[in-house]
Amino acid sequence: MRTIEVKHFAGFYNYIIQKGLITEGGSFPLSDERKRACIIIDEKVHSLYLNNVVEFFGKYFDLTDPVIITAQESSKAIDYYLKVIDSLIQRKIDRKTIIISVGGGITGDLASFAASTFMRGISYIQVPTTLLSMVDSALGGKTGINYLNFKNFIGSFHQPLAVFCDPSFLKTLQYKEILSGMGEVIKYGFIEGNYLFDYLIQNMSKILERDENLLEEVIYNSAMCKAKIIMMDERDTGERHKLNLGHTFGHAFEKALHFSVSHGICVSAGIETSLSLSKVLGIIDDQMFDKLVDLPKKLPFPSEIRDLKFKDVYNAMFADKKVENGKLKFVLVKSPGEIITGVEAEEEQVRYAYEETIKSRFNQ
Ligand SMILES: NC(=O)c1ccc[n+]([C@@H]2O[C@H](COP(=O)([O-])OP(=O)(O)OC[C@H]3O[C@@H](n4cnc5c(N)ncnc54)[C@H](O)[C@@H]3O)[C@@H](O)[C@H]2O)c1
Repeated sequence: MRTIEVKHFAGFYNYIIQKGLITEGGSFPLSDERKRACIIIDEKVHSLYLNNVVEFFGKYFDLTDPVIITAQESSKAIDYYLKVIDSLIQRKIDRKTIIISVGGGITGDLASFAASTFMRGISYIQVPTTLLSMVDSALGGKTGINYLNFKNFIGSFHQPLAVFCDPSFLKTLQYKEILSGMGEVIKYGFIEGNYLFDYLIQNMSKILERDENLLEEVIYNSAMCKAKIIMMDERDTGERHKLNLGHTFGHAFEKALHFSVSHGICVSAGIETSLSLSKVLGIIDDQMFDKLVDLPKKLPFPSEIRDLKFKDVYNAMFADKKVENGKLKFVLVKSPGEIITGVEAEEEQVRYAYEETIKSRFNQ
């Protein structure tokens, strides 16, 4: 069992990682005081793991009936959120009850937002069950739902009491969701730039085959990387911008493809295109480019991107929240571990970087 202590302005919480912790009857020393708790759980995780989850948390809490969430982006909506609040009222949840969110990023964002607003805020625990949520959304206390066409538009910062990460949940995750999580994982490889970068280059094929020991190592190091950044910048005003590496291109690919390709795979393609932009802008030379691009090249590049028109991708970039005064701001890489934020580029430079990436992937 390994623990990462995540400090925040009001205290700290532990991110605890151990394979089998919840799925194979593990235990953890929690407070002796038996409180009530309500599990808010992803529908698929409910059918696969409810008994394990109840067995684990039942040792420490008096559990109400669970609230079941359909994990789709449309569930992160006002009306669905209000249904969750109604379910909490039906279960007579009070200020002392703990919410336990069990699922991926959708369940986590919705359940933590419900916890942060119910009676002005009650405590919650995160149990991430997708790779993306284990390395990203379960850490940092960002809660939220979508509104109109805007993602995560209504939300809050509300830190969990603890995060229990059991990588064995990943056995049943669809392969495309593993790939999606890996897009964020390689981002941490670049930000950490040392051990994790080399580890991913050396072990990618075994990681994608879900070798449990390798996955646990990768998740722990990714979570550690994210934890260090959020501790430096809890409210997303500076250091945290590094976490947007690959996301200006990545979000634009996602949007131009009408969300038919998963977020993480678009981020990975976005990182690869950002490396090309670093080269176009003279931030890195050919030798450094070849070293860096080896990492995203270990993941598939969506063929759908080849069929996009550059202008559609470029226009989609302006919907990005990193646009300042009408100008695009890129997060680029200078070397492993050296990330630069707020970089501006001309449209022709962006076009060239994009076209070079397509050419190199598809020999066009
Ligand atoms: N709060 C944050 O800081 C933050 C950061 C990144 C992303 N997000 C949000 O996360 C969301 C995406 O999260 P996600 O990628 O985890 O997707 P998700 O929650 O939709 O889960 C993906 C799919 O996997 C299924 N699933 C979950 N765990 C499983 C398991 N162990 N076995 C089998 N199936 C399982 C779900 O039912 C779903 O179909 C987006 O809404 C995004 O905005 C939030």
